[in-house]
Amino acid sequence: MALADFDIVLFGGGGDLAMRKLLPALFARDRDGHLPPAARIICAGRHLWSQEEFQQFLDKSARPHIDAAATEPQRWLAFCARIQYVGLDATDPAAYAPLIAAMRADPNLVRVFYMATPPSLFSRICHNLAQVGLANAHSRVVLEKPLGRDLASARQINAEVGKVFAESQIYRIDHYLGKETVQNLLALRFGNVLFEPLWRREWISDVQITIAEELGVGNRMEYYDTAGALRDMLQNHLLQLLCIVAMEPPLSVQADSVRDEKLKVLRSLKRFTPSTLAQDVVRGQYRSGHVDGVAVPGYRKEGAPADSRTETFVAVKAEIDTWRWSGVPFYLRTGKRMADQLAEIVVRFKAIPHSIFAQSSSTFQPNCLVIRLQPDEGLQLNLMAKTPGDRMRLKPVELELDFREQFKMPRMDAYERLLLDVLRGQLTMFMRSDELEAAWEWVEPILNFWEQEQTEPLPYSAGTWGPAAASALIGRDGLQWREEV
Ligand code: BG6
Repeated sequence: MALADFDIVLFGGGGDLAMRKLLPALFARDRDGHLPPAARIICAGRHLWSQEEFQQFLDKSARPHIDAAATEPQRWLAFCARIQYVGLDATDPAAYAPLIAAMRADPNLVRVFYMATPPSLFSRICHNLAQVGLANAHSRVVLEKPLGRDLASARQINAEVGKVFAESQIYRIDHYLGKETVQNLLALRFGNVLFEPLWRREWISDVQITIAEELGVGNRMEYYDTAGALRDMLQNHLLQLLCIVAMEPPLSVQADSVRDEKLKVLRSLKRFTPSTLAQDVVRGQYRSGHVDGVAVPGYRKEGAPADSRTETFVAVKAEIDTWRWSGVPFYLRTGKRMADQLAEIVVRFKAIPHSIFAQSSSTFQPNCLVIRLQPDEGLQLNLMAKTPGDRMRLKPVELELDFREQFKMPRMDAYERLLLDVLRGQLTMFMRSDELEAAWEWVEPILNFWEQEQTEPLPYSAGTWGPAAASALIGRDGLQWREEV
């Protein structure tokens, strides 16, 4: 579908997200001819840079993140020439004149305002856009995560932004929903007859969802130390993945059909009690160690306050109180400076009820479906098969689907796909306000518990799978994380 003409403004347009993700994504879509020639891309930032200074910064900061192999240098230069930079204090409505001048006056044009700023600025910028006459019924606003720090601040942002924009104009982005394999999970579940009958408590024993990063906090300490892994990853990315795995079949892929079903999952998550909080949640913080053979410092030596209690790892046992999922544990974990860089969903099926072979059924590995999001996107189905020869000996084997091998075509980054959705007005892969609030409602008791307890996060060495308590969390149920088997 061709894109209608638009103007897009990136607030935080000189920032890290714009340089690493948003501009490279827009560039890739421009390179492939998706962006209408007249569309304007405007970066609005607090530095009072000249156009030339901005272009130099762009070349230094965004260019390393583009796919140079698929790009001729002239294309990058042509893209840079399309971007206008506007330096302004976005909190001051009197400062918006240069932005108004940079945008086209046509009131019927789609205007997209992308908030790549701290969430504390979302409401003010939206009100300012309304005040200076830039927001109208054709506008769309994109809100980056984290949306607030807790339920109250998320509600406040929703209420304030909602005074300016209708829900149908608000795109709360979670880039995990833009990942190819996450969208493929919808295809797997609802485009095949095979899995859905088995996708329930009668056949599934447990689900593990892991997002592990080898990277540390890097130059994002200022943000990260006030957020931590729970706000940065669990409240959004991990819970969204859980929703896609656990939701009931939506009526269609229309936005509210999907979002209604995700909301039901979030609302069915079993609430924590004081004892489950102590037992089913683990938080950790990395100390020095080795990642890929390279010595790395601990979190507190990377610029965090010496007594920082911010968690860089969190693991949780979640349960969903519905007929479909009652009694099936969902183990979620994420951390920085872990032993590997991977994101995956592991759905483990129940053991066979009885072995007809000489081998005891306890030597059979239960079937297991691994949905790999990163680093290489794919699916793996573990089965039992007979080993060749005249004896009936069974052995675990793997059926492997590598999406890169299967579909030999150029890939799109999650931000490319989601930006196209915004420009096309497709809301399915964006969170609705009630979903966001339901997710905060579920995680908030964990934050309160940590606050009250005043305990230290458990230390773990960089380059490991997190604190030993995370293995114990799943070990109590007689299970192991897939990587630790
Ligand atoms: C972001 C978090 O939302 O996701 C980062 O703020 C994290 O801390 C990143 O590194 C992980 O995303 P991806 O796509 O690299 O797995």
